[in-house]
Amino acid sequence: MIRFDKVTKRFPDGTEALKDISLELPARQLTAIIGPSGCGKTTLMKMVNKLENPTAGAIYIDDEPITGMDEVKLRRSIGYVIQRIGLFPHMTIADNVSLVPKLLNWPADKTDARSKELLQLVGLDPAVFMERYPLELSGGQQQRVGVVRALAGDPNIVLMDEPFSALDPISREQLQDELRHLQQEIHKTIIFVTHDMDEALKIADTIVVMKGGKVEQVGTPQQLIDEPANDFVRSFIGAERINQKRSFGERRLKEFLFLFDKDWAGEAERADAALAVGDAHQLLERSGKPRLAVVDEGTLVGFAGERELLRAALHVEKGAGV
Ligand SMILES: Nc1ncnc2c1ncn2[C@@H]1O[C@H](COP(=O)(O)OP(=O)(O)O)[C@@H](O)[C@H]1O
Ligand SMILES: [Mg+2]
Repeated sequence: MIRFDKVTKRFPDGTEALKDISLELPARQLTAIIGPSGCGKTTLMKMVNKLENPTAGAIYIDDEPITGMDEVKLRRSIGYVIQRIGLFPHMTIADNVSLVPKLLNWPADKTDARSKELLQLVGLDPAVFMERYPLELSGGQQQRVGVVRALAGDPNIVLMDEPFSALDPISREQLQDELRHLQQEIHKTIIFVTHDMDEALKIADTIVVMKGGKVEQVGTPQQLIDEPANDFVRSFIGAERINQKRSFGERRLKEFLFLFDKDWAGEAERADAALAVGDAHQLLERSGKPRLAVVDEGTLVGFAGERELLRAALHVEKGAGV
């Protein structure tokens, strides 16, 4: 767990980027930090690996204050992915990926095995990609390597600052899916900065909404949609999304695509396949998750748990048809 205790950051020019922030980021979950440009997301994130230090307050990792920790050691124990990944162009993918394990003095065979395993997990065949150079890869592939590089030293914490925002929409969605999938394998404490609510709703376990150096709301995607704390959060989520969610019970099920994990995407057929309520119910049960994300023509319209599905089933029985 990462804890911010009354953290304030004032830059030398007087800008107050963070104002008395107290916040707990749960371990082994993906927390998205979201808010408009300039609200302090990057500053908040940089405090975790001491690229910035607080003016007041303290930060703890697993109850240990980071103030006294060695910066270099700390940074090697935390993965970091940024928008422009900055792979080293003159180094092969294998060399780029094994940078941190080498700094940690891992034996070569362990480094090699780990690199291959991670490349495989993000859909890059090691036999094809290990010896290539960054410029021989597409933007999406390079960013996958960036994610792999951040994970290679097996850090407990991974910081990701708008890692997908420079990608085209299709690569971006793919990487979001892959990150979700990857996280189910590795269960790292991931802090993911974004300014895109769709992205946050899709990938995060917990969302922290920021504005002007302050935290406006912390909650699960469902909590934010159900009970936005104030007008700012409401408008950030989008009135449309909230209204759609409210009328969910009455919508015809065939308009929905039920989605949650990549593993299940194959079973959750496209909207025109008209998933019956019973099928959705079964998927939900077998997934072992509390709810399904409901997507209508590519837009997330809400979440459906037992209760919503039951309501939808009753609705269908009353003759609304699927
Ligand atoms: N080194 C710096 N010196 C002065 N002001 C800064 C510095 N870094 C960031 N800021 C300011 O702090 C605020 C928060 O910045 P940042 O954390 O980068 O926001 P975000 O990542 O949410 O876009 C902004 O007003 C920004 O201009
Ligand atoms: Mg930023």
